[in-house]
Amino acid sequence: SPPLRIALAGLGTVGAGMIRLLETNADIVRARAGRPLEIVAVSARDRSKNRGVDISRFAWEDDMTAMAARGDVDVVVELVGGSDGPALTLARNTIAAGKGLVTANKAMIAHHGMELARLAEAAPAPLKFEAAVAGGIPVVKGLREGTAANAIERIYGILNGTSNYILSTMEATGADFSAVLAEAQAKGYAEADPTFDVGGIDAAHKLSILAGIAFGTCIDFGNVECEGITGVRAADIAQADALGYVIRLIGMADVETGGDGTQRLLQRVKPCLVPKGHPLAHVTGATNAVVAEGNFSGRLLFQGAGAGDGPTASAVVADLIDIARGETSAPFSIPVAEMVAMEPAGSGARTGR
Ligand code: NDP
Ligand code: HSE
Repeated sequence: SPPLRIALAGLGTVGAGMIRLLETNADIVRARAGRPLEIVAVSARDRSKNRGVDISRFAWEDDMTAMAARGDVDVVVELVGGSDGPALTLARNTIAAGKGLVTANKAMIAHHGMELARLAEAAPAPLKFEAAVAGGIPVVKGLREGTAANAIERIYGILNGTSNYILSTMEATGADFSAVLAEAQAKGYAEADPTFDVGGIDAAHKLSILAGIAFGTCIDFGNVECEGITGVRAADIAQADALGYVIRLIGMADVETGGDGTQRLLQRVKPCLVPKGHPLAHVTGATNAVVAEGNFSGRLLFQGAGAGDGPTASAVVADLIDIARGETSAPFSIPVAEMVAMEPAGSGARTGR
């Protein structure tokens, strides 16, 4: 079979990880995809930067938004980031050209996922974003397909690796917040703007995407109640410990049904006390964990690396394999036209964006 020809925008932590994965696991990937996955063109800001991977055999595009128009490209992988700007232009161009788009960009999906999904369904073109939520954990596929027969009653978990790395390291070593944040940045876990991690915004992006999939609702990022970990002090962690708890940044979404039958969507990200015996208390480092409660499946726990080059590249390439095999399902659990827009529940401070 002919190769799936890929244009790759973004050669940072995840982009370089994807090139390494495709080299190391070429045979496995070819066997699972039924054909080779071949990068033909790449783009980033600085052509001369040493990225630890060989990009000399790929065509270089100065303007990444032009990648979609290349005649030798079947699918574009967007690993640049940013909710708007060139990443969004590239996404729109790619789908409009009827080509597949794979992205790890949760900010873009949280803000523009409905528009992009509508475009993808109309084109039709595959739009896939497994890597956008919880790094290497196949939770998008798990929820979209694995729990497809269930009414999901609640979804919650640890959705930001950087914050979890900071909280669990402070807990284990008593280290200072900013020193541990610098470690997380050096390991490639943090966003380009780390205030998204420690301010809870990144977890809110992911929660809004998961809620859309789990409840069949339109993504509503602006109504996620959001508080990050910047106010958590070493003294708070010590106090929690003395009482038998750890502190974790938890994202939680459920649907409240009022007396009149109206359904309201509660989405909340905040630091929570977790009893030391609870499975989420044992989630340390950049690990993520997502709990989904289905009415027939019961409680499911998805756990694994939530950030970093290898795990995130693993999710990106899994999406590419699906596209190579010709998988054509709608981006979310149901087509956008069938989604309901629910009123928000709760009364805390919202992201409002
Ligand atoms: P990096 O900052 O490491 O890499 C970003 C890449 O995009 C760089 O190669 C950079 O170019 C390029 N880039 C940035 N702005 C532009 C621009 N205006 N035009 C052209 N190229 C540009 O980010 P990550 O690899 O960490 O993240 C990429 C995406 O994956 C983001 O959406 C992020 O949220 C998401 N993600 C990241 C995870 C992680 O663990 N790191 C996990 C899950 C998702 P140059 O190198 O030349 O500066
Ligand atoms: N900055 C994100 C995190 C990357 O720390 O979880 C993975 O989405």
